[in-house]
Amino acid sequence: MQILGIDIGGTGIKGAIVDTSTGELLTEKFRLKTPKPAKPEEVAKTVRQIADHFNWKGKAGAGFPTPLAHGKCMSGGNLDPDWKGVHVDQLFSKVTGLDFTVINDADAAAEAEMHFGAGKDKSGLVAVITLGTGIGSGLFFNGHLIPNTELGHVSYKDEAFEKYAADSIRKKEDLSYSKWGRRLNKYFKHIELILSPDLFIIGGGASSKIHKFKDEITINTPIIPAENQNEAGIIGAAMGAYDGIR
Ligand code: BGC
Repeated sequence: MQILGIDIGGTGIKGAIVDTSTGELLTEKFRLKTPKPAKPEEVAKTVRQIADHFNWKGKAGAGFPTPLAHGKCMSGGNLDPDWKGVHVDQLFSKVTGLDFTVINDADAAAEAEMHFGAGKDKSGLVAVITLGTGIGSGLFFNGHLIPNTELGHVSYKDEAFEKYAADSIRKKEDLSYSKWGRRLNKYFKHIELILSPDLFIIGGGASSKIHKFKDEITINTPIIPAENQNEAGIIGAAMGAYDGIR
């Protein structure tokens, strides 16, 4: 099925038409900057501009970078506090006039990765961890998503772990890859202890840099990079609208 997939991030909002049966993009990606501040009405207008760019009238799905339950934003996260309590799916449907499904951005990217990337045919408990502005997670058991996990928010020294180990923190604090890798090692050890997963898949911008910090990671669970890092968020957002993942 052809669906418009939109990946909403802290710096950019990008979309493309996706064939959800193959995971292929049927168009070039179209990207606009995330409005600053990223208030609900402004972000919704940007989403409409993307739908208009494709002159789209069919189904649409978005990946959204905050804790989310059934399309409702539970906390503004790294976007804007005004999002808390907003039914993001209803807002986007109203502003675009399209049938919109909204799922968590990490669930979206992870779903695409499990179907069409590094997680294909992987069974057991698989934790896809996205390293970017925040730390996101998509958790799967035998290929089925357990939606809305927020594994970047387990605590470390009274703060969310993502405030210590996200890729944005590496940039902000100008950490070397080995220093960042040691922070990530603490993170993965903790998640390994809690979940005993069979496999970790690293998604997000940092997945292509895994070779730079892998020597610092001493966990027993296999850990591999995602394959679809640039497009997984768009593909998974479209799949969410098709499958109704929440
Ligand atoms: C949010 C998650 C999101 C992740 C990646 C975290 O701060 O809480 O919902 O998936 O960032 O964008």
